[in-house]
Amino acid sequence: MQIDGLAAIVTGGSSGLGAATARRLAGAGAKVAVLDVNMDQAREVAGEIGGLAIECDVSSEENGEAAMKAARQAHGPARISVCCAGVSESRLMLGKDGPAPLAHHSRIVNVHLIGTYNICRLAAADMAECDPLPETGERGVLINTASIAGYDGPPGAISYNAAKAAVAAMCLPMSRELSRHAIRVMAIAPGMFETPMAQGLSQKYLDEMTAAIPFPKRFGDPAEYAALVETIVTSPMLNGETIRIDGGLRMR
Ligand SMILES: NC(=O)c1ccc[n+]([C@@H]2O[C@H](COP(=O)([O-])OP(=O)(O)OC[C@H]3O[C@@H](n4cnc5c(N)ncnc54)[C@H](O)[C@@H]3O)[C@@H](O)[C@H]2O)c1
Repeated sequence: MQIDGLAAIVTGGSSGLGAATARRLAGAGAKVAVLDVNMDQAREVAGEIGGLAIECDVSSEENGEAAMKAARQAHGPARISVCCAGVSESRLMLGKDGPAPLAHHSRIVNVHLIGTYNICRLAAADMAECDPLPETGERGVLINTASIAGYDGPPGAISYNAAKAAVAAMCLPMSRELSRHAIRVMAIAPGMFETPMAQGLSQKYLDEMTAAIPFPKRFGDPAEYAALVETIVTSPMLNGETIRIDGGLRMR
């Protein structure tokens, strides 16, 4: 679908991959709502792109519903939803202090899996109310962020890996269910990208990861993730699949 004039929501849109996506979609003419828990940065990004900043913890049913309502009232129902909200906390399941608190696992799963599902169910409901677009017959597209960690299972982050694998696993059944509404569902599994999330990792780990990337031997630029989002939005045949964007990296 052509992006110009459409409403879009981007969760985690105040930083990293989400902020790059918000900028790219706005640059292509979309009316963008930035949903995030970090309101200072959300306002900054929204101000820069002429969009709307909305406070939202994606893992909360009430927050999600209120945020989607605010976005709808300002821009109309969104035909583009991109879920980038996320937290990355590595932790051993069985460390030297004993088993990890279950709350750690719940928190990671809540933000990534429950949060993505929460926004998808609400965004899909809004899209289903839209008329099909004349040029492609589609009503909208949901794009979620998985991770190559969900496939490769690097050690030290079982909760994150599992939540990301689940985001990828939701993609095909969600696309099948929503096909009757002419809504596409895609996911992107990034490798290593230069964002505040990656900046929290140790230099040793960053160097090892960079060395392990076949080509190009560098971290991805968030703008490259955003360019893939635009390709997905504008390519009606892309549906029900998770695309790796990782320079060929396989984590160990
Ligand atoms: N950077 C990478 O190398 C990389 C690799 C693979 C996957 N990812 C995934 O890409 C997504 C974006 O990551 P990033 O690197 O841009 O990170 P980031 O830290 O720059 O941005 C994440 C954003 O999500 C927001 N957020 C966190 N919890 C939230 C919640 N409960 N509700 C709403 N917003 C919330 C944060 O405030 C932040 O603005 C994440 O899902 C991450 O797991 C990133």
